[in-house]
Amino acid sequence: MAEILREEERLDELDPLRHLRDNDADAAGNTDEGISDGFIVPAQRPSIINQLQILSFPVLVPELRLSVDASPGCGGIAWPAGEVLSRYICLRETREPGWMKTRTVLELGAGTGLVGLVAAKLGAKHVVITDQTPLLPLIERNIVLNNVQNACIAAEFNWGEPLSEAIRTGAFDLILAADCVYLEPAFPLLVQSLCDLTNESPRAELLFCYKKRRKADKRFFVLLKKHFEWEEVDDDPERPVYSRDTISLLRFRRRGVKASF
Ligand SMILES: C[S@@+](CC[C@H](N)C(=O)[O-])C[C@H]1O[C@@H](n2cnc3c(N)ncnc32)[C@H](O)[C@@H]1O
Repeated sequence: MAEILREEERLDELDPLRHLRDNDADAAGNTDEGISDGFIVPAQRPSIINQLQILSFPVLVPELRLSVDASPGCGGIAWPAGEVLSRYICLRETREPGWMKTRTVLELGAGTGLVGLVAAKLGAKHVVITDQTPLLPLIERNIVLNNVQNACIAAEFNWGEPLSEAIRTGAFDLILAADCVYLEPAFPLLVQSLCDLTNESPRAELLFCYKKRRKADKRFFVLLKKHFEWEEVDDDPERPVYSRDTISLLRFRRRGVKASF
């Protein structure tokens, strides 16, 4: 086991993003390569340059225009967990009309901004869509493409760094993150940021959608466990579909804080 992990680490050093591209079967011991065909979002290769993708989240967001471009980094395309999380927030809004209107939202590691854009389309009070600097022009372009400039801003947020003014003053009700577990050196940084954010917004609902790609992902959850507990979101009828694709939608709770959602 230790040997396998060492080999994984060696390969990670050579190519830190290999797990994102692989869509491999390591995750749940799932060796059926065809299993994810046709579900959620087709696997996309990082050769996509400046394309327009039109997504639909019936019925509340019939059209979301997404500029996708892999040149600034892996976040420049839409990943399956982002689509799962987007569909779930649409479902919540369908079940509880007006739910999103009362929410101030933060998206972490947003890439194209997909999930935050859907939140804005659903009527969120204010959405801060964050990622690292190279992704910000793409997010800004997508904010304009979807005409949600009044409700949305793009902001730089590098995990592990102190919260900037744009984020600290947020007092968020809803924190969203999709497909942010893939790069081992970033695990402690992401956990640190989740702690910082929930210190500022202790009552925020934190929805975390994650695609399990390899056994080493467990290390993220080992670190997380010191500060958070979590549960599978169990009221999503699509769960049996995406869980076959090793995607989980989780709700994190800060240890010792009583939930209010
Ligand atoms: C796999 S992409 C997912 C993008 C998007 N959430 C989605 O589901 O389509 C992971 C994202 O995390 C961002 N990211 C990685 N490390 C980060 C860090 N240290 N600080 C902030 N963002 C980071 C990347 O820039 C990228 O956009």
